[in-house]
Amino acid sequence: MTSLPRGAWQDVARATGLLSPGGEVAATVFAEMSALAARTGAINLGQGFPDVDGPDDVKAAAVAAIQAGVNQYPPGPGIPELRAAVADHQRRRYGLDVDPDTEVLVTTGATEALAASVLALAGPGDEVITLEPFYDAHAAVVALAGATHVPVALAPTPEGFRLDVEALRAAASDRTRIILVNTPHNPTGTVLTRAELEVVAQVARERDAIVVTDEVYEHLTFDGAVHVPVATLPGMAERTLTISSSGKTFSLTGWKIGWVHGPAELVTAARTVKQFLTFVSGAPFQPAIAQALADDETPRALARSLAARRDLLCSGLREAGFDVIVPRGTYFVVADGARLVERLGLTDVEGSPAGGVELCRRLPELAGVVAIPMTAFCRAGSATHERLRTAVRFTFVKQEHVLREAVDRLVALRHP
Ligand SMILES: Cc1ncc(COP(=O)(O)O)c(C=O)c1O
Repeated sequence: MTSLPRGAWQDVARATGLLSPGGEVAATVFAEMSALAARTGAINLGQGFPDVDGPDDVKAAAVAAIQAGVNQYPPGPGIPELRAAVADHQRRRYGLDVDPDTEVLVTTGATEALAASVLALAGPGDEVITLEPFYDAHAAVVALAGATHVPVALAPTPEGFRLDVEALRAAASDRTRIILVNTPHNPTGTVLTRAELEVVAQVARERDAIVVTDEVYEHLTFDGAVHVPVATLPGMAERTLTISSSGKTFSLTGWKIGWVHGPAELVTAARTVKQFLTFVSGAPFQPAIAQALADDETPRALARSLAARRDLLCSGLREAGFDVIVPRGTYFVVADGARLVERLGLTDVEGSPAGGVELCRRLPELAGVVAIPMTAFCRAGSATHERLRTAVRFTFVKQEHVLREAVDRLVALRHP
């Protein structure tokens, strides 16, 4: 075929910054940076996946399920044990009352839960508010739904990245169908405060909007930061779809077992779409995750260990000359490279001071480390895009010895 076919993929590519003016589709910056890491032997602190697998007993449970013949289509909404485990988890951890029969849907990771929820509930003429910077799948599913994406800034402040609540109020309109929240937030590591979420709730109630909340990092918070599920705020359970998954909580990102819960009407809407996306998935993984969800200690231990690894990476980045915004959750830290770019005299092709993209392309050769430019999580030309021009995202969900090696290499930037 000589030219690419027209189709909805173009909307997705455009929404995620992957469509060139000539209609070519670019690789994601994640793919570009991972390929760069493989080519140069650099340490890949770009893509956020753990380099140590989750608990042995959970893996053994999946193996046992395969051996026991759990290998055919599971029930459409997910196996009853997993739905019950999700409901029990939400009750135990957050005091939420969830009916496992009508209010929980098991999905192929949080990604499918997001897609099913947004495709089910928003369409042309509707507006979907997200935070900016945003996880790229959020922009992609809004585009697939044919809805209008309205990003609202999480702005860097001395207290970390904070929700611009006035911008949120101003962005909302009677066309706002969904407010898509993500806390703890990828890529900034922000844990939204109760006060910030109360503004989200107030705006949602005023505009009669649905909140879809992506809480995949719910257990990965540090320094006593408390994750507040949107559905726990007064009057919000009835208008909120809560999404999470086992990938981050149990370091099993490849299993893709996720879920969404909320009022039966909203879950029915999401299920109606989900059944034609994948129908079902992960039969032998579902009982294993049902077992894992009863364990509160493994995620706590992971959060403690991640906090220590965050500290290690943050101090190395500071020593290397980055300005770091210390995250209170997730796998990620945002570091501004403006001073480093200036000191090293790095420029882009036009001779202007290099931005994050250029810096990330040069980091493997300069320091043997790979990161992701923050502009990849922004809409081209937005104020947030401009504000984060020189910022890059590093992950610290790697083993301590890997991070130590990365830090040693980064610190060498001090004395090139
Ligand atoms: C904010 C956010 N949501 C969703 C996902 C995807 O989750 P899953 O692998 O369960 O589909 C990720 C993975 O990086 C994420 O960072």
